[in-house]
Amino acid sequence: MGKTYKIAVVNGDGIGAEIVPAGVSVLDAVANKYGFKLDKQEFPFGAGYFKEHGKFMSDDALETLKEFDAIFFGAVGLPEVDDTLPARDYTFRVRTSFEQYVNYRPVKLFPGVESPLRYKTEKDIDFVVVRENNEGEFVQSGKIMHGDKPGGMAMDTSIFTRFGIERIAHYSFKLARKRNSKVTNVTKSNTLINSLAYWDRVIAEVAQEYPDVEYSKMYIDNASASFVLRPEIFDVILTTNLFGDILSDLGGAIMGSLGLGGSGNINPEKDFPSMFEPIHGSAPDIAGQNIANPIGQIWSAAIMLDHLGETEAAKEIMAGIGATTSKGNLTKDLRGTASTSEVAESVVQFINVTKLSTI
Ligand code: NAI
Ligand code: MG
Repeated sequence: MGKTYKIAVVNGDGIGAEIVPAGVSVLDAVANKYGFKLDKQEFPFGAGYFKEHGKFMSDDALETLKEFDAIFFGAVGLPEVDDTLPARDYTFRVRTSFEQYVNYRPVKLFPGVESPLRYKTEKDIDFVVVRENNEGEFVQSGKIMHGDKPGGMAMDTSIFTRFGIERIAHYSFKLARKRNSKVTNVTKSNTLINSLAYWDRVIAEVAQEYPDVEYSKMYIDNASASFVLRPEIFDVILTTNLFGDILSDLGGAIMGSLGLGGSGNINPEKDFPSMFEPIHGSAPDIAGQNIANPIGQIWSAAIMLDHLGETEAAKEIMAGIGATTSKGNLTKDLRGTASTSEVAESVVQFINVTKLSTI
């Protein structure tokens, strides 16, 4: 018998209740096949929990979650709840408390899915956005003053530390060595002449330790256009918290749908559990209809298993996603007619019928 992993399952809100169980069904199928165990425990945290308890998580949540090997998460946020709270009180809290300083967000075109970029194929769209996940523009250090008065003002401060920049840069260069040896630092140091000039400087220093990796920098405005016009130039994109947030939705769009993007909030040292979630939000506009695309969530399951060391099982999930999309088994966002559960069942079916040796 293989290992047992303790997995905290947090559906969150909206479509989380549909796509997370879909992801769990795929996880169960590979665990069964590859002989490891998933000891799962569900937690009801999110905006729904807030409506009942006045907080997004229980007071002991972080202490409890800390004991798990990983957190498998959907998304948080509901239209009727103040939308400044979900990130502050759940997502960012978990990401920072558990030093998940890497937000690993791969972008790739699956077979059978048409990219809105009509001239681009699977070989053109295959890169990773590495988003700095603990500091930068999202530290939420600031204030609104005299908001209702004519002299009202507001500010948010970005914070970049040498320690924070160095660790995300090292992660990116090491990742590039396992891919196509290319790191593009997406920045805006021509206008943010303090914070991002420092970001560039520290990254350039780290780059010198990786002479085998091609390093360049590009401004965020040009990078946005290049996602659309020439995505094939990218391998590993190293960028800040805010830029990475925006660029990864654009990455989702060029894959064909936001619903396709998987991600990991990773603590590479494994001092704390990492958290795996799709790149999109809780999509309340389509919740409860069994039409959400579960592939981003299922891909997040593969990223989780890869992080835990179950690399073969992770590869099989990816092969299952590819087999499903190439059969045209697609949800509405990709102009298909399949339901959330049908797509998940198709991936499970692939796992159940494919022989171990053929992968
Ligand atoms: P969203 O990502 O939830 O939805 C944007 C659009 O994409 C919607 O039209 C939605 O229907 C579609 N979409 C998203 N996921 C899909 C899927 N799996 N299949 C098919 N279509 C999908 O972003 P939005 O609308 O800006 O935010 C909704 C809520 O989610 C807000 O409360 C927001 O704060 C929260 N949110 C939470 C995140 C998290 O928990 N990490 C991340 C982003 C947003
Ligand atoms: Mg986002």
